[in-house]
Amino acid sequence: MCGIVGYVGPRQSQDILLAGLARLEYRGYDSAGIAVIDGDGALHSAKKAGKLARLREELDARPIGTGTTGIGHTRWATHGGPTDLNAHPHLADDDRLAVIHNGIIENFSELKAELVAEGHGFRSQTDTEVAAVLLGREYRAAGGDLVAAFRAVARRLEGAFTLLAMHEDHPGLVVGARRNSPLVIGLGEGENFLGSDVAAFVEHTRKALAIGQDQIVAITPDGVTVTDFDGNDVETSPFEVMWDASAAEKGGWSSFMAKEVSEEPEAVANTIRGRVHEGRVVIPELDGLDDLFADISRIVILGAGTAAYAGLVGKYAIEQWARIPVEVELAHEFRYRDPLVGPDTLVISISQSGETMDTLMAVKEAARLGARTLSICNTQGATIPRESDAIVYTHAGPEVAVASTKAFVAQITALYLFALHVARVRGTMGADDQAAQIEELSALPDKIRWVLDNEQERIEQLAHWMADTRSVLFLGRHVGYPIALEGALKLKELSYIHAEGFAAGELKHGPIALIEPGQPVFVVVPSPRGAQVLHSKVVSNIEEIRARGARVIAIAEAGDAAVLPSADEVLRIPLAAPLFEPILAVVPLHVFAMGLAEAKGLDVDQPRNLAKSVTVE
Ligand code: G6P
Repeated sequence: MCGIVGYVGPRQSQDILLAGLARLEYRGYDSAGIAVIDGDGALHSAKKAGKLARLREELDARPIGTGTTGIGHTRWATHGGPTDLNAHPHLADDDRLAVIHNGIIENFSELKAELVAEGHGFRSQTDTEVAAVLLGREYRAAGGDLVAAFRAVARRLEGAFTLLAMHEDHPGLVVGARRNSPLVIGLGEGENFLGSDVAAFVEHTRKALAIGQDQIVAITPDGVTVTDFDGNDVETSPFEVMWDASAAEKGGWSSFMAKEVSEEPEAVANTIRGRVHEGRVVIPELDGLDDLFADISRIVILGAGTAAYAGLVGKYAIEQWARIPVEVELAHEFRYRDPLVGPDTLVISISQSGETMDTLMAVKEAARLGARTLSICNTQGATIPRESDAIVYTHAGPEVAVASTKAFVAQITALYLFALHVARVRGTMGADDQAAQIEELSALPDKIRWVLDNEQERIEQLAHWMADTRSVLFLGRHVGYPIALEGALKLKELSYIHAEGFAAGELKHGPIALIEPGQPVFVVVPSPRGAQVLHSKVVSNIEEIRARGARVIAIAEAGDAAVLPSADEVLRIPLAAPLFEPILAVVPLHVFAMGLAEAKGLDVDQPRNLAKSVTVE
């Protein structure tokens, strides 16, 4: 949470910072602010509660100069409400020093007490201002050495942080520190950048450097130095950003979400590309890593939100094809329950951003306990893949809308690929079966496109009619169950309507009490060509709720005639083998949630109270 950008170079920094913040606004939009150091060596700053547009208005009304060194911040509030005063940057050392921060400084009260006792004053309720004031004090103690002072501060802080700072004594220098929060360096010609992720600077350079935990970076127009908190040089990993700036633009769509839902077919196709050879799945990133899963006795999949639901779908595929028992757990629940994992366990984390703090902490805990770790991630240079033994990237392209859509289908695809890869290595699947599954997998992008081309308009119309609905339920069985959960989550996130997903079999153990006349219920209907018993059970569930007045909207295979008499509406998906249905069934639910939020006039890209990359626990 919170987006951070820094710039040093020959150009005016204000526009670069604002453009970077616009690309990072998905990380938080409670307030925004920038600070720049002018050619005459004076530090100026502006900050405003609310979205970035408010800061732009403020800068138009009161310009802050033409400085070529600058830092910028977009906030998701933790300590202190979303006010102008609590917005970043925070200033210290007689307003000559500016600091921005992403994360939570856990020992801030103790540090604040120490600084107050020394006579320092505070203007905000934030933990960040404590770091700024502390840096001012250490700066004086270090005789004006900003980097040394920054190291001293970083050593005192507990918790998670990315901090950037600059001081008007040092135009042309921005320093950064990170512990368990993201920070990436962008390498330009005669200019350098810092960002919470590469989106902050990708329009200027695609050359990037990832830095590790507990490291300090100093950028000037001509160079970058990275050290640990004690000042020792450390190695950095350069990488080339795989997508260009236009991939993170709206490109004529009404919202990023509309664009990203339309990209679901490509997200699946690009994730498969290069991983299928002669009727077999071979994931190049896992080459030479057979040991990682050759003798494991179980798999634990971790994630948060939508990523965890992708994991639930993956469980069915891995167990069926690779015959390894799989448990799926919310990362934050796993982390604090003294989990029983060890060298016989492969822990697979799923995260679009690769920065979700709950997931990162769970992966670290699993590694500490001796488990092997594999990350399924959509973001190069992110922290979770760096902390894992192996990585399988999803190639969904940058996802900007806060609620995850195309990354979800890409995550499920990556899990299918992983399951097929492991099944081949462990010999649990015959060549013909493997080839048949690959054929099904490869057909998915066109089938998703079919849903969008043929059903999107009707679903949007349905959403429009349902704009006043107060509660929606979602039911599914087997692989349809995680899709019911995802459908409910998306609707809550985007339209602020109460929504719950249930396993259809659980219905009569409680949720059926919620059914009253007119209650809308989406039901994910399994294919009648798969396990017939599952299909007939779900059709019976539909009858049970219809008998109590529910309004049923079924998501069913085209050609499933049995469902027609029982449902009020049927949204069609193409035929697919049962394990692959979730990737098709979720598309109407994404379109519905987006359509309903739009019908209510809500911002589908930036829903209230949420942030895309949740970098606090
Ligand atoms: C936030 C987002 C969700 C996302 C979850 C996990 O809560 O709003 O859309 O599913 O984080 O994010 P990750 O980046 O780890 O996939």
